[in-house]
Amino acid sequence: MNPKSEEDRIELQDLTIAIGSMTLKNPVMTASGTFGYGEEYAPFVDLNRLGAVVVKGLSLEPRSGNPPPRIMETPSGMLNAVGLQNIGVRDFIARKLPFLRRYDTAVIANIFGETVDEYRQVAEILNGTEGIHAIEVNISCPNVKRGGISFGACPDAAAEITRHIRSETDLPLIVKLTPNVTDIAQIALAVEAAGADAVSLINTVTGMSVDIERRRPHLANVTGGLSGPAIRPIALRMVWQVVRAVKVPVIGIGGIMTASDALEFLITGARAVEIGTANFIQPAATMEILDGIKDYMIRHKIGKITELIGSLDTGTQGNC
Ligand SMILES: Cc1cc2nc3c(=O)[nH]c(=O)nc-3n(C[C@H](O)[C@H](O)[C@H](O)COP(=O)(O)O)c2cc1C
Repeated sequence: MNPKSEEDRIELQDLTIAIGSMTLKNPVMTASGTFGYGEEYAPFVDLNRLGAVVVKGLSLEPRSGNPPPRIMETPSGMLNAVGLQNIGVRDFIARKLPFLRRYDTAVIANIFGETVDEYRQVAEILNGTEGIHAIEVNISCPNVKRGGISFGACPDAAAEITRHIRSETDLPLIVKLTPNVTDIAQIALAVEAAGADAVSLINTVTGMSVDIERRRPHLANVTGGLSGPAIRPIALRMVWQVVRAVKVPVIGIGGIMTASDALEFLITGARAVEIGTANFIQPAATMEILDGIKDYMIRHKIGKITELIGSLDTGTQGNC
């Protein structure tokens, strides 16, 4: 194949996907909390090439997060207990969003509150803000005492919060789910019925690590959220369960480091993927993943990414 014809084939590829009323140029997004407010990664990543930038979780007022130590490396992953440190939604709009508006990429605001009303107020402030394309609701943070996971672990509470935010905004609404539950599909069904346009999963898996010399937990918060390749098979299994349960698009997250990892999620039925911990190891991971997906599509003669999504063939395999 000569280089020109390969370029032509890449030009002809259609990677666009839809999440509610929002169309993304490709399915590669960043995961909240691992890509700052986008600006921090601009020296390494062409933000114009991303499907979407999902920014660090935003609350009504600024938060300083948990005391250190709050990060610990573990086998094939990391534990974090950052505790949703952020500059607050108003400062984000005033100081960070203008930078992101310069790029031709969707901006998704990840939001967080300690009470239903706080979530509602953050959504209200973002609604109608130029340059915000969707809201991702974090009801799944394991590292805060109030809010977060306490909403995401119960179908009724997850539905209630979704309903409140739905009534506040016309923006596409993505609800981010926690893996720290018995039946994630049940939570997904509850938020779908309450008006979510999509679900994203998974947030981190609650974990712990001990310093045996000092006989103390490594994290000041004692427990933290496990992310990275260690959680990928769990995330993929949960995406598979949720894809089969709901009709709304599912966004896959969890330990995606390479294009092959992303393809596993897309083939299983995820409409898009979010890249998290990989950004800490290789700041340009999202670009490599996007290029790898395109190469795969050329190799397999796939013109549209939508032909690939959900193409998993489980054959007659069952559980033994
Ligand atoms: C340091 C750190 C901070 C995070 N902050 C947020 C956050 O603010 N909001 C959120 O919804 N998820 C947050 N997450 C979870 C990630 O977005 C993602 O769901 C999780 O890390 C699993 O993906 P990964 O294995 O690719 O990192 C954070 C994760 C890490 C490691």
